[in-house]
Amino acid sequence: MSAWDPDQYHRFRNERSQPFFDLLDLCSPIPGGRAIDLGCGTGELTRVLHERVQARATIGLDNSETMLARAAEHAGGGLTFKYGTILRFAPSSPFELVFSNAALQWAPDHPKLFERLAAGLAADGQLAVQVPANDDHPSHMIAHELAAEEPYRTELGGYVRHWPVLRPEAYAQLLHDLGFARQHVRLQVYAHLLPSRDGVVEWVRGTLLTDYQQRMPPELFERYLADYRTRLAAALPDTTPFLYPFKRILIWAQKGKD
Ligand SMILES: C[S@@+](CC[C@H](N)C(=O)[O-])C[C@H]1O[C@@H](n2cnc3c(N)ncnc32)[C@H](O)[C@@H]1O
Repeated sequence: MSAWDPDQYHRFRNERSQPFFDLLDLCSPIPGGRAIDLGCGTGELTRVLHERVQARATIGLDNSETMLARAAEHAGGGLTFKYGTILRFAPSSPFELVFSNAALQWAPDHPKLFERLAAGLAADGQLAVQVPANDDHPSHMIAHELAAEEPYRTELGGYVRHWPVLRPEAYAQLLHDLGFARQHVRLQVYAHLLPSRDGVVEWVRGTLLTDYQQRMPPELFERYLADYRTRLAAALPDTTPFLYPFKRILIWAQKGKD
């Protein structure tokens, strides 16, 4: 079962789309080429990607039926959406652009994953990835801390989400080892201004907490959410508006060109 809820995810649409546009700015057009958007979500940004890079064909891939149901309305003119998992990405014909915004944090083992992404690229193909790097913020640490406590621990069978995202310099090394001729890796802090600290709960609920939500009965998740809200409130200053600094890693690399 997937707990992705398009409406909850879209509550911070503007804040969430800025990193997408920053990542897109790093990409060169691929006129007549093929692109894939891994973890495309509701597809409106995939449409922007498809048009901006002038692709002949773009595939938006996602493993959430609820997100893909929304994406369907953006299909057409060479843009298609497909149900599938990033974990088995192994295309039979290579892409000029492999793109992924805010999705690869759901896939384990990034060294192996990036090896597979690189193998799916054409001779001078581009790889463009944005992943959150906020796992050391109380919003993330408290979510995991709570999951490791009763009664959640028993219900989750001891599961606590492992954070697979590497440090920026590890991605630089990885891209180098994979033979990319050009690369750009940066850590960027997005300063999101929320109405109050409670906004952080709504933010995280649309993404990170979905992982725990799908593993618990709804009543227990409601209790988890209430505990999370209380504990987070104790850890964050009570200011209005509330500044939620959110770190993200932007990664772009190109094969074959010096
Ligand atoms: C935070 S949303 C980002 C959506 C979109 N890229 C955007 O920028 O708005 C993460 C998306 O990744 C998808 N996802 C997570 N794990 C996946 C996997 N293993 N395979 C395919 N999609 C996955 C989720 O269903 C969700 O739609």
